[in-house]
Amino acid sequence: MERRQRIGLFGGTFNPPHLGHLKMSKAAKDQFSLDEIWFIPSGTPPHKKVDNEVSASDRAEMCRALLYGENGILSEEEKEFYFVDDIEVRSITPNYSYKTVSMITSENPDKDFFFIIGEDSLRYFHKWVKPEVIAENVTILVASRNESNGEKKVLTGDFIDREEMTLPEMIDYLKENVGGTYEVIKFDPVDISSSEIRSTVTEPGFEAEKFINDDVYQYIKEHGLYREAYDNEYIENIRKDLKDKLKSKRYLHTLGVMHTASSLAMRYSYPVSHAVLAGLLHDCTKYLNDDEQLKYCKKNNIEITDSEKKAPQILHAKTGAFEAEKEYKVKDKDILHAINVHTTGAPGMNLLDKILFTADYIEAGRCEAPRLNDIRNTAFNDLDLAVTMILSDTINYLKEKDKSMDPRTFETYEYYKNLIEQREFARRILELVN
Ligand SMILES: [Fe+2]
Ligand SMILES: [Fe+2]
Repeated sequence: MERRQRIGLFGGTFNPPHLGHLKMSKAAKDQFSLDEIWFIPSGTPPHKKVDNEVSASDRAEMCRALLYGENGILSEEEKEFYFVDDIEVRSITPNYSYKTVSMITSENPDKDFFFIIGEDSLRYFHKWVKPEVIAENVTILVASRNESNGEKKVLTGDFIDREEMTLPEMIDYLKENVGGTYEVIKFDPVDISSSEIRSTVTEPGFEAEKFINDDVYQYIKEHGLYREAYDNEYIENIRKDLKDKLKSKRYLHTLGVMHTASSLAMRYSYPVSHAVLAGLLHDCTKYLNDDEQLKYCKKNNIEITDSEKKAPQILHAKTGAFEAEKEYKVKDKDILHAINVHTTGAPGMNLLDKILFTADYIEAGRCEAPRLNDIRNTAFNDLDLAVTMILSDTINYLKEKDKSMDPRTFETYEYYKNLIEQREFARRILELVN
């Protein structure tokens, strides 16, 4: 008789997923001869609040980064056994584990399922909605976080008479009251928690390699996850100030960039208030004329290149970033960087840089540029391609009008043109292989 496949289901908020999750699932896989592990990030969890507004799709992407990233701890062979199931992420109603488990087990009657759960969650298992349905359909594998492998008494979940129990006592309680089969995953516990990562990941000196792999860390940084949002009052005060300072046409453009940047932030999963602030402040020193731009730079020791000397208006990017930090107290390095590079772009721009650079070009008040609608459309589908199109059209325009061009514009264009060509090449190879 053919051996039935053994699948480990590993649900959780994964906010963010970390090396502890990986270690736990690897131990379960080895100890219980599982053929596959399915990570199931929760959508709208009924029993755990997802902090910092990190979307379910971000958490699913981070699971992929943890499992399949180039800097992960899984070998290429091991990666084949791990899957991310979006079943709860895509769900339109609140997720309950019993529903997920029922759906998966009824769709796969030829497989045996194991439900991986941490000790902390198990202590509240009896409080979940219909835990008996889960216990009926799968074997529950419990990973203990405490060093004595669950022998130490720790707090139980609510509704139990005794406040403290060891893990074996807790399992006995559940067998009696919920039913089911429970096994303990033996592994060296790791002292990593998602909440600790959330509160320290944005601090300088965060030692990513101790908690998450570099791919997850890069995802967190690129998408600005776990950062505090800027409050509306602070943003509103800046808006009022700029309304007084800027000419009305420039002010309307500023609002246009702000709204477009916030839309792109929604599309590409970036903190909206950060994109709003970058859009609002990007031209905040545009009221200074050429002479004043040069004076502002000299006064504040801002370096001026030869090409900036010839066309000082371009300095409003540098002076704008300086002003945003000094006058408007913006500390976020990514916002300041995005303002700094918004006129010329820069090779290897981060997500916010690209959002602001693109929003500046496509905002609704713009009408003069050629193929504007193509670029607008592309911006919401393929940001790198939109950036490349903008740079290409800008260079053509400057050449046509015989205007001076900052060398960074061309460097940035070369960088993105190569990136798009390489991407296209890789796509065609993949098509041929498949
Ligand atoms: Fe500008
Ligand atoms: Fe602008």
